[in-house]
Amino acid sequence: MKTVRTISELRQSIDYNKRVGFVPTMGNLHAGHLDLISTAKAQSQLVVASIFVNRLQFGPHEDFDSYPRTFFEDTRKLEASGCDVLFAPGEEDLYPVPQGFEVSPPDNLAGILEGEFRPGFFKGVCTIVLKLFNCVQPNVAFFGRKDYQQAMIVDHMVNQFALPVDIVKVPTRREVDGLAMSSRNGYLNDAERADAVQLYLVLCQMRESFKAGHNISTVEEEAKHHLQSRGWKPDYLTIRSALDLSPLSVIQKEGNPPPGCWIALGAARIGKTRLIDNLEFNVN
Ligand code: PAF
Repeated sequence: MKTVRTISELRQSIDYNKRVGFVPTMGNLHAGHLDLISTAKAQSQLVVASIFVNRLQFGPHEDFDSYPRTFFEDTRKLEASGCDVLFAPGEEDLYPVPQGFEVSPPDNLAGILEGEFRPGFFKGVCTIVLKLFNCVQPNVAFFGRKDYQQAMIVDHMVNQFALPVDIVKVPTRREVDGLAMSSRNGYLNDAERADAVQLYLVLCQMRESFKAGHNISTVEEEAKHHLQSRGWKPDYLTIRSALDLSPLSVIQKEGNPPPGCWIALGAARIGKTRLIDNLEFNVN
């Protein structure tokens, strides 16, 4: 694997006669990231990964400074998983001057759910993803379904700007107990780690109650109370359309689960750590 830092070194390292697959990351790689790499290897001829902790997508009181930086272990994992090129720019390489041009995704996609609780987050994500796409010029890029809203917004950005990149969404990798893998799981102490799976379990419970025909607001309230009773602080626990994350628009009656593709999504704090997860399901 070749590791490069600057945009010009990067472009010289890529053979553009090959189908280039790209996996953007912020490092601290776990098995979920490595699934992205193996999917990229299966669907392209040259795999480029990036590691860049993007300041623009962190709020002023968020964990930019403490975000885990584990470059040495990350390069070892990437090398072992068959990544061809690692792009690991410094801030001075990607933001040599303050990034004045930014990509503002529309509020109906980016002002809800994560965007409501992390204002500016998706603007930061879209700006860096567009920039990384311009640096790497991939044919195909891979995003995890754990960050469902992020992958959906990137998909819309690619379509609206007619970017020549296919977006592939890769299933969430879970720990044995069901907890979705995330770099932020490393912040949890033992007791928090033991309870962390409750976010996933409550999403499973929401799916079952919704499928059984319970009213959506009852389903959401019960989920919220369940986590709160264990000391969690939920930001949102909701069921939305999996197509565009819109809420249920018609008055839903008890005993009448609406057919379609749905997704239960949750974000909640356990101690100082904020976790997110989701569960997609169909109702026939
Ligand atoms: O999902 C992430 O790790 C980041 O949001 C991304 C896509 C690498 C952009 O910084």
